[in-house]
Amino acid sequence: MPRHIVIILGHPDPSPDRYCRALADAYRTGAESAGHDVAIVDVATLEFPLLRSHAEFNDSPVPDDIRTAQDAISGADHLVVIYPLWLGTLPAMLKGFFEQAFRPGFAIAFDDSYRWKKLLRGRSARVVVTMGMPALAYRFWFGAHSLRSFERNILRFSGIAPIRESLIGSVEASKPEARRKWLARMSKYGALAR
Ligand SMILES: Cc1cc2nc3c(=O)[nH]c(=O)nc-3n(C[C@H](O)[C@H](O)[C@H](O)COP(=O)(O)O)c2cc1C
Repeated sequence: MPRHIVIILGHPDPSPDRYCRALADAYRTGAESAGHDVAIVDVATLEFPLLRSHAEFNDSPVPDDIRTAQDAISGADHLVVIYPLWLGTLPAMLKGFFEQAFRPGFAIAFDDSYRWKKLLRGRSARVVVTMGMPALAYRFWFGAHSLRSFERNILRFSGIAPIRESLIGSVEASKPEARRKWLARMSKYGALAR
């Protein structure tokens, strides 16, 4: 069954040299070659301000680029979020993107008793994180703390599940062969839409 996939490329640097970008391209190529439909949300190229208040989160107009991204997410049944680990967590620009995009009424809704409804149910995700340290150090020494938080408080909170993960460590130190293996793996995940 062809699936609708949106790749949220969360690297703030638009340079084609970034490995995150190559991983996104590999995923997209694999997915398209298997007949899946792929949209890319390239956060580095979007125009949006940071939210500064609860009132803005609830009621301020959604910027055009964010609205376009929301439409892509609405139309998708699988999300792929790719970002580099920066200071132990998501780059601020990507966090700012989710604050803008995952607003009440789009990702979540509250009833009168302040119970929330998850509005993005029915969508799965893969989160791909690149980092300078070995991936095992992040997962086991640091407990992948920021990834847990991202998955629990942003993705699952909105109903997105199941979530798969790819942690790619030692990126700067890695040999071309190791990089190629990850690109091939991404392409395979794309073909499987997983
Ligand atoms: C501002 C900044 C902060 C970073 N913080 C971390 C960090 O906390 N832990 C880590 O393992 N790597 C850290 N790195 C290294 C990046 O994760 C690494 O360069 C990136 O994943 C490589 O992928 P790219 O080619 O797509 O940028 C940091 C890099 C930058 C620029």
